[in-house]
Amino acid sequence: MAGCKKIGILTSGGDAPGMNAAVRAAALIGRAGGAEIFGIERGYRGMLDDAMEPLSPGDVQGILRDGGTILGSARCKEFHDRPVRDRARANLARRGIDGLVVIGGNGSLTGALHLADPEELGDQPLKVIGVPASIDNDLALTKLSIGVDTAMNTIVEACDKIADTATAHDRTFIIEVMGRDCGYLAMTSAICAGADLALFPEAGRSETDIVEQIVKTVAAVRQRPVTDKKRARRVIIIKAEGVSVPVERLKTLVDLRLRERFPDSDPGGIETRVTVLGHVVRGGRPSAMDRLLGSRLANVAVRTLLTGGSHKMVAWMPPSIPDGVGVRSGVDPYCWLVDLRAVLAETQNLIAGKSSLARWRVGAFDEIEDALLQ
Ligand code: F6P
Repeated sequence: MAGCKKIGILTSGGDAPGMNAAVRAAALIGRAGGAEIFGIERGYRGMLDDAMEPLSPGDVQGILRDGGTILGSARCKEFHDRPVRDRARANLARRGIDGLVVIGGNGSLTGALHLADPEELGDQPLKVIGVPASIDNDLALTKLSIGVDTAMNTIVEACDKIADTATAHDRTFIIEVMGRDCGYLAMTSAICAGADLALFPEAGRSETDIVEQIVKTVAAVRQRPVTDKKRARRVIIIKAEGVSVPVERLKTLVDLRLRERFPDSDPGGIETRVTVLGHVVRGGRPSAMDRLLGSRLANVAVRTLLTGGSHKMVAWMPPSIPDGVGVRSGVDPYCWLVDLRAVLAETQNLIAGKSSLARWRVGAFDEIEDALLQ
């Protein structure tokens, strides 16, 4: 297999802290391996606009600690159309770019697969390797994507702050976090923040059930004896944005039920407060873990292109996994090369809550829910 000689690097979709670490590692390792490196601006949009410039070591110096991505990012819906992809391929061919490191999530890796579809490519030499990057952690067959760790830390820090004021007032807070259709960030940050309840789409609960679940949680916490000074009487609920009930509607419905349930309480004291963390969760300096993850995944990605590999995603998994799922990268014991098509198929199952991992997550929360309310 001929190795790539001119490698383009792009970041695409929602930016994720740690993307810069991946860009830096891919650029430095690729260059050291003898390839010419290009930075493609604003993801697939820059490929269409022919915005691809050589990336020198100086360009990537010092970017490791910065959030966002120096290359910029975009969501390029037109990329679903074959003629648009043909245009992008022509731009790559004109510059002789024969390898791509695509750093992004589900949509971005789907774009990579289409771009390098052998039937569409003809005899154009183009190899692609995906690097998972999305705060949502909704890509399958990798334990972690770039950005998740920083996002979790941001959420937990925000929840700790909210918990201070919630405790001072014995209040209930519903905190909405990003994650698109995936509840991973809500689930994990609920554990790390010591929340009383996590609401996530994979549970498949109806609006009525969700309202009852919240009221049950508030009631259990409020029934704790007032003399039990060490036990907090505040309630922290983390809601994934993928739960289809809008947070303001949830507040209205819950407040109504709480007033019925606790008619003697001061209405101002019992009503819930809502905080939507939104894009705050996506920003900030990457954690050490995300810098490490970005660097190690990109190292393997670019080395794979240099030795002629293609159509894979570099996955972060423990050094031993069941046979047949992937092949060892041979470069880093935590990095595996998994088939890009298999990743995207399994990702659909994960998001739909049908994969064994998604079912395990839901089951684990069912089991701990009552324990949390004691
Ligand atoms: O996929 C990352 C993500 O931040 C999701 O959590 C969120 O639903 C979405 O992107 C927001 O996208 P945009 O920034 O385009 O509004």
